[in-house]
Amino acid sequence: MAQEDVFKKIVSHCKEYGFVFPSSDIYDGLGAVYDYGQNGVELKNNIKQYWWQSMVLLHENIVGIDSAIFMHPTVWKASGHVDAFNDPLIDNRDSKKRYRADVLIEDQIAKYEEKIDKEVAKARKRFGDKFDEEQFRSTNPRVLENQQKRDALHQRYSDAMNAMDLAELKQIILDEEIACPISGTRNWTDVRQFNLMFKTEVGSTADGASTIYLRPETAQGIFVNYLNVQKTGRMKVPFGIAQIGKAFRNEIVARQFIFRMREFEQMEMQFFVKPGTELEWFKSWKETRLKWHKALGFGDDSYRYHDHEKLAHYANAATDIEFKMPFGFKEVEGIHSRTNFDLSQHAKFSGRKIEYFDPETNESYTPFVIETSIGVDRMFLSVMCKSYEEEKLENGETRVVLKLPAALAPVKLAILPLVKKDGLPEKAHEIMQQLKFHFNCKYEEKDSIGKRYRRQDAIGTPFCITVDHDTLKDNCVTLRDRDTMEQTRVPIDSLLSLIEEKVSLISLLKKLQ
Ligand code: GAP
Repeated sequence: MAQEDVFKKIVSHCKEYGFVFPSSDIYDGLGAVYDYGQNGVELKNNIKQYWWQSMVLLHENIVGIDSAIFMHPTVWKASGHVDAFNDPLIDNRDSKKRYRADVLIEDQIAKYEEKIDKEVAKARKRFGDKFDEEQFRSTNPRVLENQQKRDALHQRYSDAMNAMDLAELKQIILDEEIACPISGTRNWTDVRQFNLMFKTEVGSTADGASTIYLRPETAQGIFVNYLNVQKTGRMKVPFGIAQIGKAFRNEIVARQFIFRMREFEQMEMQFFVKPGTELEWFKSWKETRLKWHKALGFGDDSYRYHDHEKLAHYANAATDIEFKMPFGFKEVEGIHSRTNFDLSQHAKFSGRKIEYFDPETNESYTPFVIETSIGVDRMFLSVMCKSYEEEKLENGETRVVLKLPAALAPVKLAILPLVKKDGLPEKAHEIMQQLKFHFNCKYEEKDSIGKRYRRQDAIGTPFCITVDHDTLKDNCVTLRDRDTMEQTRVPIDSLLSLIEEKVSLISLLKKLQ
């Protein structure tokens, strides 16, 4: 099946099984805004727990905070967001549609890459085992021609973006003959800068309301609390502050479901270090974060680093952790060495001294910062994409199963009485009463047992137990494993120990040590 179709299926599965709904669905939705349903919220909370505990429980020198979404407007002046948090936009005069100029050009670069990949795939099919990809890529004339076009465009685009040369961005779009996908024409306006922050007002307009912003990242809430936390927590450098919370960006190109949203959630950790040690810490956090992703068991080839060539003026290193989504490798997390830019800017704009006094050297300095920043929603999407499977069964039927890591699954155990009578529901409820304090259990009695298994497979429940007539005599139940569909007879008393270890976050966290 084409990856595009797989992705469409995942999106509709998310809606059908209570994971993600369009916001304000009964009003036909609101662009790039989504709600999490009864299963989605559990999965999302488990992802957040996994991140939070890996940061705050496993590191003695990392603490958490929860700062407000609204912040003093000067924060965003100091951070550079008021002046520079922009996207270059272009409009097509015929369709009246607005696009990000950089995205139009990146899509064009991707088209050259796709052409090359197609040539390679064709040749692989033709030559079979004898195919030497490296040699083919370096000699085939069509590949070389497209590679040369791709590289030239990439270079021109990088130069234009580095210089923020808007006229050049437009010229690239014209020279590459990029057409509007809706109107098909190349009737473009000039490229303009567009600030991504949402504005609102605090106070009544009558007595002088002032403009404030919905935060576009959670990081600044950490920077402005650096002194508070360092002093009250008696924190010694190196130390980190972690936070999970909502962020808002007026994204113009809202595509790919929850990949790019206008309201989303971030999990960010700012790690304050001694100047001069930041690149060592950057390397260490790069490895730590990749290990966190890989511990989920989706396979090492699902991830890659993308080291930034173009660095923000305040950064001295940056990388993305990219995940293989059905629409290609995409950024899920950013790791940035932000120097002392943010703390110095806040010191300048607030007039406060924001430093660290090192008791060992009797020196004061402004700490440097390594940031790890991951989107909860992108993480959620990557987990859904990798877990969704359509399995052909021996009887010819297709089973849709979410092979979620057990610790992230919304429901850990489904408790199913075989029939709705003869005391079986009562016995099932009794088991539920014992286990519900330990993990999320769901009781279900409607429909045949087969249909109930399928429903649990579709939401990723790792275990089901069936309570039957024999249970009343021998106090045993049938335990079914989601992935193997194997069924074993086990005593009710052993359920807690059998299941808890497999579904708890602890086993996942232990892999990180
Ligand atoms: N404080 C640094 C920062 O915000 P970023 O690369 O702009 O860096 C970090 O964002 C992460 O936040 C991204 O890797 C992505 O996972 C997530 N993210 C950013 N914009 C997003 C959007 N519009 N929708 C969903 N997630 C987004």
